[in-house]
Amino acid sequence: MQENNLFGWYNNSNQNQKEKEKEQNKYKTLLTVAVLIGVVLYPFLFVGVIPLVIVMSLDKKDQAAHIDDMNYKSFLKRGGSFFMALAGGFAIVNIACFILLIPRGYFSCYLLFPLNLLDTALIFTYQTVLALVMGGSGMGAALIAFSAFVSKRRVVSKEDERLKVTQSKDYEERRKNSFQESQRFTEEEEAAYQEAKRKGDVEKLLELRSRILLGASEFGKPYYLCTSELNKHVLIPGTTGSGKTTLIQLFVQHAAKFDIPLVLIDGKGARATLTEMETIASFYGRKVRVFTDTGHMKYNPIKHGNEVVIENKLVALAKTESEYYTIAAKLLLLGTVQLIDTFSEVTGFKRSLFLMQKYMMPRKVLDLFAKEIWKKKPDMFVIEVVAKTSNKKGKGPKKESIELSDDTEDTSSIAEPQKKEREGMDRQLRKRMESFEEQPETERIRLDPKTIDLDSYYQLVKRYSNLLTPQQLRIFERLFVRYEHKENPFYLYATSEALQSNINMLLDSELGRLFDPEGAEEELDIGEIAKNNEIVYISLNGLIYSEFIVVLAQMLVHDINYYASEMYIQGEEKPFFAIFDEPASYLNEAFIDTVNKTRGVGLCGIFTPQTMADIKKLGDQIDEQLVGNVNTLMVGKTNSPLEREYWSKSMGTYQDIELTSVVQQEAGYSDVGKSDWTGEKGTKRNVDRFIVHPNKIRKLKQGEYIVERKASSKEIPTQSVYIRSVSDWIKKQENEKKK
Ligand SMILES: Nc1ncnc2c1ncn2[C@@H]1O[C@H](COP(=O)(O)OP(=O)(O)OP(=O)(O)O)[C@@H](O)[C@H]1O
Ligand SMILES: [Mg+2]
Repeated sequence: MQENNLFGWYNNSNQNQKEKEKEQNKYKTLLTVAVLIGVVLYPFLFVGVIPLVIVMSLDKKDQAAHIDDMNYKSFLKRGGSFFMALAGGFAIVNIACFILLIPRGYFSCYLLFPLNLLDTALIFTYQTVLALVMGGSGMGAALIAFSAFVSKRRVVSKEDERLKVTQSKDYEERRKNSFQESQRFTEEEEAAYQEAKRKGDVEKLLELRSRILLGASEFGKPYYLCTSELNKHVLIPGTTGSGKTTLIQLFVQHAAKFDIPLVLIDGKGARATLTEMETIASFYGRKVRVFTDTGHMKYNPIKHGNEVVIENKLVALAKTESEYYTIAAKLLLLGTVQLIDTFSEVTGFKRSLFLMQKYMMPRKVLDLFAKEIWKKKPDMFVIEVVAKTSNKKGKGPKKESIELSDDTEDTSSIAEPQKKEREGMDRQLRKRMESFEEQPETERIRLDPKTIDLDSYYQLVKRYSNLLTPQQLRIFERLFVRYEHKENPFYLYATSEALQSNINMLLDSELGRLFDPEGAEEELDIGEIAKNNEIVYISLNGLIYSEFIVVLAQMLVHDINYYASEMYIQGEEKPFFAIFDEPASYLNEAFIDTVNKTRGVGLCGIFTPQTMADIKKLGDQIDEQLVGNVNTLMVGKTNSPLEREYWSKSMGTYQDIELTSVVQQEAGYSDVGKSDWTGEKGTKRNVDRFIVHPNKIRKLKQGEYIVERKASSKEIPTQSVYIRSVSDWIKKQENEKKK
């Protein structure tokens, strides 16, 4: 066994040795042939170097142009067989020309050496030039084919090629001056815009509108994002100070330049965000409209949409821990909107939160119905009651006995004539009794709807409910009658205390005035913003009104959804930037719904959270839903290792090779000629590598973002981009103007 092994090993090593020798022989033969060709055909070799140099420099440029694409094969690598065929073709043509046409031309190419040593009749003619061109081209093609062959054979991992770039001096220089680098292409883009605007060049303006210059890529090229990609939504996670708000400025600038409506909801309420927005907008002659807790713009969240839309919009106010109570609150919301809408014709109501607040009080609702009934029955509040004295006289029981005889006595066994006589007597008696009762024993009193107890009020309205219109009656039944089987007909009102308290809290707070549309000079209306291409900043002071931000943001998202649904119905599409800065304070499923459904109408959702962990905390797997629904990801500096890994994984891997080498250190000075101890042997295996390694995310600088694009029509490799600061650029322009 051992012998066999030994023998086998011996055989193997012998075979390897033979193969190696065979390789070396092949290499030596090839080298000898090449040297011989070079020596023999040297004039053509000299000329052939010219196309080789040209092609090599073109190839280098091609490589540089696609430096960001690890899978890109430069044209030299792609065109190996073409150059081989070209070299073959030239060889045949050259041989034919040499034998049949211009042998003297070919020979005269050697006039410099060695033929100048001989006494020869050859001279330089046009044939020499022709032969040099033909021969040189043939040799050039052969040299190019050879270098294509060599570059194809070279085994280099993509990682190593990438490292060569990222460790280059140019790359490091760009990175060191990233803010400056990010502005490298700004002037050109702006100049093109200003000129197109001045000339009224619509085509150019449309071209510029269709892309946004983000800044410069890590490879020193301008980096654009297509406006149409934004429509598939953008997620920009980055730690505090990583430059998210600076990035958002790019969208504000684009909206200001090209009249695109934009709404920015700022979850933090940072003053600087607004100031910078205003600086940018005014540079392009635009205004920013502002909805803040201290501003004068009003918002009527229930202005548009049917009752279901409103119910969804206000559901954040209706939510309680108990599903049971939440449903009751939703039903009350629904019913109250229907009530306001139904009565709007007769009362001239205009929907508002204050009206909702008012008509969540059952007495006010009963008043509404009562007023309608009163129009048809003015004495509805006048009732007759038995006077207190009549009880003493015992009139009540008498009436009761009459009614009883009327209702309960069985008259079937009495003979017909007797029956008639008896009925006649009853009627007489009843008449007498009634006239007797109408006198001092009963009194008419007028009830006061303000003080009457709720139950009696309800009974009174119900008694005359047949005087309501069918729609009014339907609402009355929905709000009260349906719940008679419960403890009381006011069940909806009694179980929706949380909703009522939340609405009261919102409207009774300092913010309340923002929701009063009465006499509003300016109103926040998503539909109008879209129609008039406005730029709007929306924010509440995050530190004081953190709870209300959630409510407000959700209402606005429903407004956006409603706007989108209207656009769908009209079959229209128009870009609309909706930016959600710091959304972790207000994101919920409604947003995901918006992201999902609003693509078709041109809505571009841009989300800039600090960490995905904050969004994860919101539950319902909102983080995953959000990541799954956006198609452009821009990852900034991230502090959490877990999150770095998460983004890295989500951006995927590429197939590469891994090369290993053995270390071969020899004793003495035998390897003194080698620059390192890397041996000749090594291994190669396929590996998967991260397209963006977590370390790369760790090392991101302020204002540097890794951009992954899934919505682009072209395949654009994921790479990092130095984002330009629009406000810095504008400040610089204005300073220069002052000078
Ligand atoms: N691309 C950039 N060019 C120049 N300066 C930048 C750039 N990005 C960020 N900065 C600088 O960093 C500061 C913080 O950036 P920014 O406010 O955009 O960060 P942020 O991610 O929004 O932070 P936060 O989460 O705290 O709101 C800016 O005031 C600006 O000075
Ligand atoms: Mg910010």
